[in-house]
Amino acid sequence: MQTQHRIILGNSQQMSELTDGSVQIMVTSPPYPMIAMWDDMLAKTEPKIGESFQKLDATDEDETVRQIYTEMHDYLSKVWKETYRVLVDGGIACINIGDATRTINEKFQLFPNHSRIIEVCEKIGFTTLPYILWKKPTTKPMYKGKGAFLGSGFLPPNAYVTLDCEFILLFRKGNLRKFKPKDARRYESAFTKKQRDEWFSQIWAVKGTRQTSSQLERRTAAYPEEITDRLIRMFSVKGETVLDPFLGSGTTTKIAIQNERSSVGYEVDQNLLPVVTKKIGNTETGITLEIIKR
Ligand SMILES: C[S@@+](CC[C@H](N)C(=O)[O-])C[C@H]1O[C@@H](n2cnc3c(N)ncnc32)[C@H](O)[C@@H]1O
Repeated sequence: MQTQHRIILGNSQQMSELTDGSVQIMVTSPPYPMIAMWDDMLAKTEPKIGESFQKLDATDEDETVRQIYTEMHDYLSKVWKETYRVLVDGGIACINIGDATRTINEKFQLFPNHSRIIEVCEKIGFTTLPYILWKKPTTKPMYKGKGAFLGSGFLPPNAYVTLDCEFILLFRKGNLRKFKPKDARRYESAFTKKQRDEWFSQIWAVKGTRQTSSQLERRTAAYPEEITDRLIRMFSVKGETVLDPFLGSGTTTKIAIQNERSSVGYEVDQNLLPVVTKKIGNTETGITLEIIKR
């Protein structure tokens, strides 16, 4: 099957390259608000966030911390709004997100990113579907928000529950997708009973991505191919288009190609292009790859 793949080096808050109702599924993992590794990237792309961080250095106020958290979600919400526009009626948005814990000015706090995204997406008009908990095998229990339990980790009451799950939030735009009876595309895209039983259950114990020696690639915090593969096959049929507005290292494009879906990926960091092209590898016949620099 002939599929088309577009990599657009630009900001996905505006997806002017895509017309309304032109993609069937979105699969993504955005920068996680309040996770320190994304502070600089977000502050650089959205100056308002940078100014708030400077204000925090000067004032140490709780209120400023809340403001930064809100501004980071405002940043993401522009992308969720654009996603809503470009999805077809019945299209599905899959968002991999982790909550964050952070100690600021000696105060330990939880930032429940998953619930903020649900609130925002419902306001946009999405219907929230039952979501998946991705149980990660790696994280160690935490003591006072400082990583592993220390000596007194067996003593109540000051330890915290470890954030060892991430969320895969699922949303639908509008009504259920409609297909003609016996539509061959659905039958050709069917999963097995074993896959259905595993994929449509709420907890997924999937290993994280392999550590890579490339610093540039590590900076993207890639999600596992297994998760991308399941979501694409659960919520789209062969020949349809997958969107990833936060492409990073290009996992979604690679898995779309493997599953005979077309794809569109947006990435604001142009330096990642070689990482993406390396991950996709030699494009097979039957595939067109277009790279658009804004
Ligand atoms: C968590 S990473 C995505 C990782 C990806 N799932 C993978 O497997 O490699 C988020 C990416 O979104 C990019 N990004 C952040 N804001 C963006 C925006 N407004 N438009 C396009 N890309 C953006 C960042 O540069 C980063 O590479």
